[in-house]
Amino acid sequence: MKPVQRPLHVAIIMDGNGRWATRRGLPRSEGHRRGMTVVRQTIRAALDLGVGYLTLYAFSSENWKRSEKEVAFLMQMCEVMITEELPFLIKNDIRFRHIGRKEELPETLKSAIRRGEDLTKNNRALCVVLAFNYGGRQEMVDAVRRLAGDVKEGCLAPDDIDEKAVAASLYTAGIPDPDLLVRTSGEMRLSNFLLWQICYTELYVTKVFWPDFRKKDFERALKEFRKRTRRFGGAHD
Ligand code: IPE
Ligand code: IPE
Ligand code: MG
Repeated sequence: MKPVQRPLHVAIIMDGNGRWATRRGLPRSEGHRRGMTVVRQTIRAALDLGVGYLTLYAFSSENWKRSEKEVAFLMQMCEVMITEELPFLIKNDIRFRHIGRKEELPETLKSAIRRGEDLTKNNRALCVVLAFNYGGRQEMVDAVRRLAGDVKEGCLAPDDIDEKAVAASLYTAGIPDPDLLVRTSGEMRLSNFLLWQICYTELYVTKVFWPDFRKKDFERALKEFRKRTRRFGGAHD
């Protein structure tokens, strides 16, 4: 019998907060607030369902295009969430990691992120990766800059740049590629998320808006994943 196929790494594009709120005649911020509660529930669900890595896309490099008010709200909310969630992460052996450009974030958010990463760095039960001010292309640009710097310094030969070296220069160094990508609220696109890492990831899109995403929706995605046959370029049986 085939063993049950479980994803080690689940990545989620948490989309639809704005639409969720607008449909209810509420401000977009209310959708984000609800979305934050769902982030907390989803971390608990991932722990319970035995997922090893959970990557959550919370703010893209392109989300700076939104109103100043919305951007400020999202920055503040992120800081509050990390700070309030930290005791739970520590208590439950959960590691926290951030991917994205830290240098462009407000000082207080940067230090909340650093503190979260530092205080949980030895935790092993689950790794929660928060993609905040993250863009797949920006990540590749930063990786190319790092590699080019190493070449210039003489510690790396151009011929030694292989897939492993590129992967090790990305923000996600040391994190396995996602097995399953979930996108909520129906959009069939990647929106600059994990472009390198998603190479052979199974895709699952649900129409459910992020604030309505529950453990049962997570389980549905895992159930669908179990049905997939992964070939990585190999031939059909
Ligand atoms: C996802 O919800 C959260 C962020 C991108 C910050 P949206 O805010 O994109 O919600 P919609 O897509 O406008 O409904
Ligand atoms: C993707 O959602 C980014 C996050 C969920 C953080 P967007 O709402 O920004 O994506 P587009 O603009 O619909 O592609
Ligand atoms: Mg959106």
